[in-house]
Amino acid sequence: MIAYLAYNGWDSGDAALAIEQKLKSVPFFSDFDDAQLAELVAIGEIETYDANQIVLRDGDDSNELYVILSGSVTIYKRDAKGNEVELKAEHSGDFFGELALLDGGKRSATVATLTPCEFFVLRREAFLSLLQSSPSLLTKMFAALAADVRATGERYFREELEKQRLHTEMELERHRALAQMVAGVAHELNTPLGIINTAAGLIRQRLQGEVVSALVMDRKMKNTFDDIIEASVLMEGNVRRAHQLVQSFKNVSVSQIADTRERLDIAEVITDTLSLFKINARKARLDIVFQDDLGEHSHIWEGYRGYLSRVLLNLLTNIERYAYPPETGGKVEITLTADDARAVPTFTVMVRDYGRGIPPENMARVFDPFFTTGRGVGGTGLGLAIVHNIVTSALKGTILLESTVGDGTSFSLTFPQVIVENGQ
Ligand SMILES: Nc1ncnc2c1ncn2[C@@H]1O[C@H](COP(=O)(O)OP(=O)(O)OP(=O)(O)O)[C@@H](O)[C@H]1O
Ligand SMILES: [Mg+2]
Repeated sequence: MIAYLAYNGWDSGDAALAIEQKLKSVPFFSDFDDAQLAELVAIGEIETYDANQIVLRDGDDSNELYVILSGSVTIYKRDAKGNEVELKAEHSGDFFGELALLDGGKRSATVATLTPCEFFVLRREAFLSLLQSSPSLLTKMFAALAADVRATGERYFREELEKQRLHTEMELERHRALAQMVAGVAHELNTPLGIINTAAGLIRQRLQGEVVSALVMDRKMKNTFDDIIEASVLMEGNVRRAHQLVQSFKNVSVSQIADTRERLDIAEVITDTLSLFKINARKARLDIVFQDDLGEHSHIWEGYRGYLSRVLLNLLTNIERYAYPPETGGKVEITLTADDARAVPTFTVMVRDYGRGIPPENMARVFDPFFTTGRGVGGTGLGLAIVHNIVTSALKGTILLESTVGDGTSFSLTFPQVIVENGQ
C-alpha cells in the first residue's frame, strides 16, 4: 500500500537537491531561485506508491498538487456507460491536481499509478503561504493552467469535429445504400411490368377483333368477353401507374436521372424553374419571392440545370402540400448567396417557408425513401430522398434542414460554383 513519509528538514542532503532539480522542471517553479526551491521542498511532502494504485479518485475532496518525481500515472474518467476513458498518461516531471490548489474543489478525474511512483505533494495551505513569498508563482500557474485548458479545448473540438464527420459520412452512406436498393428493386420490377403490359394489351386487342365477335353466340358469352376486356383495360391502366411509380423509385438514385453539365446563369435557372411552378403557386396562394444576393458576384455556375430545377420543384411541391393550408397559402422565400472563402467556392440556395414546420421526431427521417406524412394526399415519400441524392451526389453539395414547428422550414443547398464531373 502507500508508504507515506513526511519530510522535514529537506534543505540538507542529496535527496533534497534531487527533488529541487525535479521541481525546477515544473513550469510553476521554473524561475525559483535556490532559496525558494529549498523553501518549497521544506513545506512539501513525499508519497510513494506501488504500481496500479489509485492516487486520487474522481469526485474526492481535493487539496493538493502532485509532482511526479519518478514513475508514470494514468488519468482517466468513467463515461456514462461506466467505461474507463483515459484522458492522458503523465510521467516523471509532470504534475496533476493543480486545480485543487486554486479552488480546493472536487477531483475531476481518477489518477492511478502505472509503475511504482514517488510524488512530491504540496498541500493547499502550504501553497498559499508560498504565494505570499513568491507572488510571481500565481502568474506562472495561470499561464500553465491556461495552456492546459486550451490544449484540452482544442482536443475536445478536434474530437467533436471528427465525430460529426463520421456521423455525416455514415448518414450519407446509409442514404446511398437505401437509394441504391430502391433503384435496384425498381429496375428489377421494370421487366415483369413490361411483360404484363404487353400481355394485357394483347388480350384486349384479340378480344375486340372481328373473329371473336363472330364467335360470340349468345348474350352470356358476350358478357363474359366484355368482362375480360374490361379487366384487361384495368390491368393496362394499373400497370401504367405501377410503371410511373417504378420510374420515380429509380429517380431516387441519381445514376438513373440523366443531365449534362453546362455553363449556366444560376439565377436564371432558378427563375426559369419558378416560372414552371407559377400555376401551382397561384392555385396554392403561395407568394414566392426570389432574392438574388449575389450582387456583383459572378452568376456563372458550371452545373446542371435539370438537377437543380428538379430539386427546387420538389421543395416547392412540398411547401404547397405540407407547409400552408390550401385556403390561405403563405410566403416562400428563395435566396441565392455565394461563399468564396471556402477551399471550393460555393453557391447556397435557401428555400424557406413560414408554415407548419416539421416536428423534431421527423427531422431525421424526412430524407428517407418512402417516409411521408401525406400518404392520403398522394405522397409517396420519395421527393426529399431524390433531393438529398441529387444534392449530395450530382451537385457534390450538402443540404441543411432547419425547422421549427409553427415557425416554418428552410432547406439550404450548398454546392460548388464549378462542379467537377467524376473522372475529370
Ligand atoms: N416544407 C415542409 N413543411 C412541412 N413538412 C414538410 C415540408 N417538406 C417536407 N415535409 C415533410 O417531409 C415528408 C417527406 O417529404 P417528401 O417530399 O420526401 O415526400 P412526400 O412529399 O410526402 O411524397 P412525394 O415527394 O414522393 O410526393 C413529407 O411527408 C412531410 O411530412
Ligand atoms: Mg415531396
